[in-house]
Amino acid sequence: MRHDHVISAKDLSREGIEEVLDRAAEVAADPAAARGRQAGTLLGLCFFEPSTRTKMSFTAAMKRLGGDVVDMGSVESSSVTKGESLADTVRVVEGYADALVLRHPSEGSAKMASEYVDVPLINAGDGAGQHPTQTLLDLYTIRKSAGLDDLTIGVMGDLKYGRTVHSLAHALTNFDARQHFVSPESLQLPRSVRYDLHEAGASIREHTDLTEVLPELDVLYVTRIQRERFADETEYRAVAGEYQIDADTLAAARDDLTVMHPLPRVDEIAHDVDETDHATYFQQAHNGVPMRMALLDLLLGGDR
Ligand code: NCD
Repeated sequence: MRHDHVISAKDLSREGIEEVLDRAAEVAADPAAARGRQAGTLLGLCFFEPSTRTKMSFTAAMKRLGGDVVDMGSVESSSVTKGESLADTVRVVEGYADALVLRHPSEGSAKMASEYVDVPLINAGDGAGQHPTQTLLDLYTIRKSAGLDDLTIGVMGDLKYGRTVHSLAHALTNFDARQHFVSPESLQLPRSVRYDLHEAGASIREHTDLTEVLPELDVLYVTRIQRERFADETEYRAVAGEYQIDADTLAAARDDLTVMHPLPRVDEIAHDVDETDHATYFQQAHNGVPMRMALLDLLLGGDR
């Protein structure tokens, strides 16, 4: 891992990923040992889009390391409403914090913003682009439940706008993973992502029907249709409600299938799945804290 900006999963190597995952496993096994390691460190939070898990787990991680956060708050209550540019906002906030976490609706915004600051900048989602820290916690979860090598994974839902999908797909090219993408035709992977996956030598297949691949899968990663990214509400309604699973759907799956979801879910996983041994999405969300503790500590150079 380069100890600087975290912008795209394309920049993550297998070695870098394993370093973070190993450190996260250590933190999870002995959280008390990490306490105080970042005493006095401040993390700046700039979220220009809604967030529950990402923002709260970064906050929990920083506080559990003994540091604290300074939060821009909602866009409505910030100077953004006065017309401040993103470049100016991050240049100001870097003076208040030792690292920045940025979520923004424009693809490419994190890369652009990182060029204006010297402290590490972490992309917590740039539009339909990338969400690399979600990927690290996804990989941590997959490694724990199914293993990262000789993995058969199905990724279902909004593959066009889903930034967690784009990041995960890139990161998995570092491992021996067969990736099956299941979506309506209108929400297939963007051409640029498909191109990069081919370039990286990834084994990928695309499907419109989950039943074609479900019995083979070790992991099924379900995503929400990204309603806020549709230019046209009627286009959203045409695909909303498709690609849902329930406990009956999973009767055709292997007993040890791991079902993941970055959350929030809308209706793509029925609540009866929660009671099955397949459901891993709440654990997945919880894994965000040790993983982000590990990542922050590596970026900020914690003493061990
Ligand atoms: C995701 C996101 O923001 O991209 N949420 C998250 O960080 N866990 C997924 C989503 O919003 O659907």
